[in-house]
Amino acid sequence: MDPIRVNITIPFISKLQEASLQLGVPIYCVGGYVRDVILKRKTKDIDILVIGDGVEFAQKFASLLGKSATLATFKTFGTAQVKYKDVEFEFVGARKESYQKDSRNPKVSPGTLEDDLSRRDFTINALAVSLQAENFGELIDLFEGYFDIQDIIIKTPLEPSTTFSDDPLRMLRAARFASQLGFTIDSKTFEGIAKNAHRIKIITQERITTELNKIIESPLPSLGFTVLYHSGLLAHIFPEFQKLAGVKTIDNKAHKDNFFHTLEVLDNVARAGADLWLRWAAILHDIGKPATQRFDEKQGWTFHGHEVVGSKMVKKIFTKFKLPLGEELRYVEKLVKLHLRPIALTKEVTDTAIRRLIVDAGEDLDDLIKLCKADVTSKNLEKKSKYIKRFDMVMQKVKDVEEKDALRNWKNPITGEYIMEKYGIPPSQTIGLIKEEIKEAIMEGIIPNTFEDAAEYLEKNIGKYKS
Ligand code: CTP
Repeated sequence: MDPIRVNITIPFISKLQEASLQLGVPIYCVGGYVRDVILKRKTKDIDILVIGDGVEFAQKFASLLGKSATLATFKTFGTAQVKYKDVEFEFVGARKESYQKDSRNPKVSPGTLEDDLSRRDFTINALAVSLQAENFGELIDLFEGYFDIQDIIIKTPLEPSTTFSDDPLRMLRAARFASQLGFTIDSKTFEGIAKNAHRIKIITQERITTELNKIIESPLPSLGFTVLYHSGLLAHIFPEFQKLAGVKTIDNKAHKDNFFHTLEVLDNVARAGADLWLRWAAILHDIGKPATQRFDEKQGWTFHGHEVVGSKMVKKIFTKFKLPLGEELRYVEKLVKLHLRPIALTKEVTDTAIRRLIVDAGEDLDDLIKLCKADVTSKNLEKKSKYIKRFDMVMQKVKDVEEKDALRNWKNPITGEYIMEKYGIPPSQTIGLIKEEIKEAIMEGIIPNTFEDAAEYLEKNIGKYKS
């Protein structure tokens, strides 16, 4: 059978070939770049496998490109990176692993192209394309990865347990590729994940979080999370989320499965073009449900206060996942806490309630409404469209009140400094109480949202704060 040729474009190929000839070492393009070219996806960094010393090759290539090329070498790992005119090349020498009788740790030593490819994670990532002038573009495919790409299958090149014990993070990568590419995991590979899931514990949190965020950012994140759930990985890396799964029934009354409901909400926000943090808010919006779940003979299942309990859980989860604890955390906490508020407003809408929503959600109001719409997962299409329309009505009301009151990004028209200076009150809790009273008066519609009206109101009411 004639070898398969891949229609691949490699920038600065003539310089790569020149370095290859001068050093007498063959080079191949490998990994994600080859996979993505075959899949016709957008490509990223170019991984080059050198059958020889990867660092020495990178140095030669950088010197041929000239002064504006930047070179970074990582000698301990035998890898190097060259950046030139917005293109990033990663170089690595071919490696093999051998196990010594007296040690459980593998010894990594120089190897052949075949040694190197068989140590890789999945057949779809174990493809190499020759970059030599005489057979440029020829595909080397030892594990039928090319056909697995056509069959949209993720499969390890070796026995799954061997590939996963090399680097247990690969189990998460399988879920990530399934989610990003819409691929199915081969059944033997899946069994291998289920068997080795507990070994994920030896991986650092940073590496786990990077892969998890890639799943969350994929077009349909539920694909990846379903793999994590059924393989047992989720219970190890994200037990709080796993806890949402399951349905209890009492007196023939069952509640919905909050894990699968959350996955639907997550997919819905993903379809609406949500960024990573709105997706995290979707994942965590019902996280307080297991802790607040009660059964009431009249009402059935209730989860009173789950939005408050849930928003208080966000910081612990962000800390564990080493996610940023600044603005992003506050945003997710806010959305979790407020996610029921607009629903309440679909029933009874007063200007006061609308003003409170505008002020409490601030600049995140549009995202909050996106989350609320995504939270409607009823299978009854008529009901679904009715509920979603109610949120549009809430937003219309928001617009009306905003036009009247100029409330978006609301700031109290009276500052603490003004109160201290004008009434000679020292910095104290009292300043906060006064500002709160002014806010209430504006929210309740007692006074308009202007400095003059607030100052006049303050003048009339200041007496009770002065001792
Ligand atoms: N690789 C591996 N095992 C890992 C990580 C990486 O075998 N735990 C190999 C795979 O052959 C992979 C290549 O190294 O294709 C490059 O890794 P990486 O850049 O992390 O992934 P890509 O496949 O390039 O995908 P992406 O860039 O989308 O992350």
